[in-house]
Amino acid sequence: MAKQKKNAALEKHLGTVVLPVAKKAALEAGALIKRKFGKFKNLKFKADTSLVTEVDRESEKIIVTALRKKFPQHHILAEETGLSQGNQTSAFRWHIDPLDGTTNFVHRFPMFCVSIGLEAEDLGPVLGVIYHPIHNELYWASHGGGAFHGKNRIHVSKTKELSQGLLSTGFSLRREKFFEDELATFGRMSKSSHALRRTGSAALDLTLVATGQFDGFWERGLSPWDMAAALAILGEAGGVYTRIDGKNFRLGDESIAATNGLIHQEFLAALNGFDAD
Ligand code: IPD
Ligand code: CA
Ligand code: CA
Repeated sequence: MAKQKKNAALEKHLGTVVLPVAKKAALEAGALIKRKFGKFKNLKFKADTSLVTEVDRESEKIIVTALRKKFPQHHILAEETGLSQGNQTSAFRWHIDPLDGTTNFVHRFPMFCVSIGLEAEDLGPVLGVIYHPIHNELYWASHGGGAFHGKNRIHVSKTKELSQGLLSTGFSLRREKFFEDELATFGRMSKSSHALRRTGSAALDLTLVATGQFDGFWERGLSPWDMAAALAILGEAGGVYTRIDGKNFRLGDESIAATNGLIHQEFLAALNGFDAD
């Protein structure tokens, strides 16, 4: 009973206090990204060959400043500036990707987003906001409160067979480690599914599994800020996620296999190169 009460209190707190702050920060950061679309000035290659612009950094500053102000006790892990510790005893950690899909942004391919996720110790991703600034689309969820696209509730698809599914994937920047295997998996999944896409934003891909537009997504070599927000949304939309090897996923794991749940076993079997039966 005490546990139920605590859970209900957490759900209420997340939905009424925390979510509005994360949504506002995502909209502000997204507005900046939209203003700078096609107009960024500084482009750099990071050590892992991923791209970064001043827009990534400015977006991150908006988000981190907003969260720090309202939740000084929380830990914040942000892609461009790293970990900023909160109160030692805090059970909450934010995972922020200020611009997921920077390569698309740089090339003016409008498939990128702001991703703000919150992890609670013992529960995993409990809150997520994804904002696609060019389409002005806001996706959000908080623990126990359902998943939404704007004002509309979202659910994963009802596709029952992998052969009928539309899938998506991404290729890791760590090519020397993953590339050959990724190409082989790409071929296998292409044959096993109805069709396959490769969009360039892991956070949006996972979100599109939550809306039912994609039936499954997988990728290797990801970071927690690529996934935390979208996984909170996917969980509330009825989706299932594990590591590619089928084990339970925890933020910090680098591989993800996410589906509508109905095709998960078949999806994992095809990903790992064996028959589901
Ligand atoms: C990247 C995107 C891309 C995925 C890469 C990520 P970034 O994030 O999500 O789709 O394939 O693995 O690093 O660098 O644009 O934030
Ligand atoms: Ca990213
Ligand atoms: Ca990024």
